[in-house]
Amino acid sequence: MAMRDHIDVIKGLRLQAGACRKLGSEFSAALLERAADDWLAGGPTRPLLAPWESAGLKALFDAATALRLLGALHDLALGGEDAALADAYGRLDVDAAWTAALAAMRREPERLARFMEHEPQTNEVRRSICLVGGFLEIARVTGLPLRCFEIAASAGLNLFWDRYRYEFAPGAAWGDPQSSVRLDSAWEGPPPPIGAKVAVVERAACDRRPVDLTDPAERRRLLAYVWPDQTERLARARAAIELALANGVTVEPGDAPDWTAARVAPKAGAVTVLYHSVFWQYMPAQSQAALAAAIAAIAAKATPDAPFAWLAMEPPPENMATMEVRLTLWPGGERRTLAEVHPHGAWVRWRG
Ligand SMILES: C[S@@+](CC[C@H](N)C(=O)[O-])C[C@H]1O[C@@H](n2cnc3c(N)ncnc32)[C@H](O)[C@@H]1O
Repeated sequence: MAMRDHIDVIKGLRLQAGACRKLGSEFSAALLERAADDWLAGGPTRPLLAPWESAGLKALFDAATALRLLGALHDLALGGEDAALADAYGRLDVDAAWTAALAAMRREPERLARFMEHEPQTNEVRRSICLVGGFLEIARVTGLPLRCFEIAASAGLNLFWDRYRYEFAPGAAWGDPQSSVRLDSAWEGPPPPIGAKVAVVERAACDRRPVDLTDPAERRRLLAYVWPDQTERLARARAAIELALANGVTVEPGDAPDWTAARVAPKAGAVTVLYHSVFWQYMPAQSQAALAAAIAAIAAKATPDAPFAWLAMEPPPENMATMEVRLTLWPGGERRTLAEVHPHGAWVRWRG
């Protein structure tokens, strides 16, 4: 094996450690730095990362190798069977967590390796506070009930956006005051149109690989990709999972362009809304073109009595670190950027 290959694995772990630190997870950063040291020392991290040891830095990032390792260890901790690991994660004690992690990597490498075979898949519920202003604006402009179709919905945690409580700013809130899912954000600009009358009369969702929340192992896997010291994020995800299960969440398996073409069409008396967050970049160019064509075909059928809205939270091509919330409404096809938002909804700059 070439020395360069070794260096890329180490670089990948250390770079991801830096990213975790920047994004607010010191615990994950510290674990990855220890993993890098362990890999160099020839410890149990090395066989676990063997499938990626010849990969270059870009391939390591594309495969999210370091996040697979973090997820596998967190999943084991969440399971509770490894009492030492669970206790250390519960206390966010890095030294104890790494000692227990080393023991687990030696004791059950196959289990961890199996977990790491999957590409990480997340579902961030706080993105609903980025999208909700768009839904309110659609309701305000059309005055019609909403038919909501979400593509790339993952586990469906942003499917029940209308059953959450949003605190935009002091005195500006929207949604069920009793909701168990409460979302806030560092909100800049005026509040969205909270006086709009909203009724969701239909909802459906698809994902290429839906997370089945009724399966305890899949539920745990989803939580495992949330960094352990981001306790508010974990609490929000848990509350949203409970709410989704109580509402009988269904995310259909399907490729977004095909599913959109087959399932979404304007209908008189309601506004049909197609929405998505943080997924466009994961599609190959051919699928992006197919989805754009499907959207154009639906838009061509929109009428004043059966309008069609496309609401998207995606990065502009020139800056992947920030996201924009964009709304296009047909007939007419006027396209507006409603807000710039943090990728996880930590802040929203609402333009309205
Ligand atoms: C980063 S996750 C975002 C999930 C969710 N929209 C959110 O904001 O939390 C990207 C999702 O896109 C899905 N995905 C990627 N390509 C897809 C496609 N062609 N059709 C359907 N889903 C796709 C993945 O399975 C994954 O669930």
